[in-house]
Amino acid sequence: MRTYLITGGAGFIGSNYIHYMFGKYGDEIRIINVDKLTYAGNLENLKDIENRENYTFIRADICDKEAIREIFAQNDIDRVVHFAAESHVDRSIRNPEVFVQTNVLGTAVMLNAAREAWEKEDGTYPGDKKFLHVSTDEVYGSLPEGEGYFYETTPYSPHSPYSSSKAGSDMLVKAYMDTYHFPANITNCSNNYGPYQFPEKLIPLIINNALQGKKLPVYGDGKNVRDWLYVEDHAKAIDMVQEKGRLFETYNVGGHNEKQNIEIVEIILDTLREMLPDDDPRKAHVSRDLITYVEDRKGHDRRYAIAPDKIKAEIGWEPETMFKEGIKKTIRWFFENEEWMKNVTSGDYQKYYDAMYKV
Ligand code: NAD
Ligand code: TYD
Repeated sequence: MRTYLITGGAGFIGSNYIHYMFGKYGDEIRIINVDKLTYAGNLENLKDIENRENYTFIRADICDKEAIREIFAQNDIDRVVHFAAESHVDRSIRNPEVFVQTNVLGTAVMLNAAREAWEKEDGTYPGDKKFLHVSTDEVYGSLPEGEGYFYETTPYSPHSPYSSSKAGSDMLVKAYMDTYHFPANITNCSNNYGPYQFPEKLIPLIINNALQGKKLPVYGDGKNVRDWLYVEDHAKAIDMVQEKGRLFETYNVGGHNEKQNIEIVEIILDTLREMLPDDDPRKAHVSRDLITYVEDRKGHDRRYAIAPDKIKAEIGWEPETMFKEGIKKTIRWFFENEEWMKNVTSGDYQKYYDAMYKV
């Protein structure tokens, strides 16, 4: 039975990936999920699978060398899928150091531990051992409006502490592949949305605020463009890269779904109004009057857009969920999981929100 070591599996994309993998492979695989459970990690995301015999949760920091080494020593790990990271740009602007710590140093620890466990005396690796580093399109920097795409060959030009630390982690993975012939892949994906996303990110924040009749903060002129991908499509891409991709390659993953932030906010408002029953009291306040333009993010990247040509040509992956459908699924999930939202927005979230948005 193949054993996967997932880092950051209690976060947004990691938990969706774990659900996807158990949905696809059932009892044919074993998953070990290592997560520090920062503010972004939430075991509620995995409630329905926590009792599976082929699933183990270990609370550990990826920067903790001994703890990570021990996991490799105790388990015959075949695949690593490395999600764990500090992931929010605004937090990285306020507190950059923890991004360097987790994203750069933590990735170095993961690479070292995997190499130590896997490398044979002659410097080669058993054929079934693979490490996949989950990264972002933000490492490529910013594109001008309406012109050009990010390709795997686009030079790195990160601007935020978040994207710089992810770029640093990507470079380390590349260095391991070049220096040690370490069996890895990198995926650089565009913005994800879907169930279990923490409401510090645009889409769940807007859904949550709109339902509560709170202002909807739009940075700058609202015309920054992101390329949105439904999270399950990302999970599928990661699995396909490990199954069908060429080792040592980078694959860009994207939704072919560019939208300005203001368009996203308007689509969410329209979809909420469409989906809320007429007798739901929240329907009265879900309106464009809530939109509030606020001070722009420092160093705000203007546009991200992925060209997923390589992953389509080599692996046959394509985004399957159209935005109209994906946003409905996402909103439906939030309707059905109000408790989840209440739990994650109690406690420290309010402090973060008040400090971040003085609206
Ligand atoms: P997230 O913030 O929702 O989850 C991160 C998870 O990592 C949490 O469970 C957290 O507890 C855990 N974690 C953080 N620091 C840790 C540490 N030191 N040790 C162990 N665990 C730790 O993030 P996400 O949105 O799910 O993103 C996952 C990965 O995908 C990240 O590497 C991110 O850079 C990348 N990515 C995200 C997006 C996106 O749109 N969210 C797009 C492309 C790539
Ligand atoms: P975000 O979800 O933080 O993802 P990223 O910065 O990694 O792309 O933000 C998406 C876009 O939405 C980005 O251009 C910033 C903008 N934004 C707002 O306008 N208001 C908000 O409250 C947030 C969180 C983001």
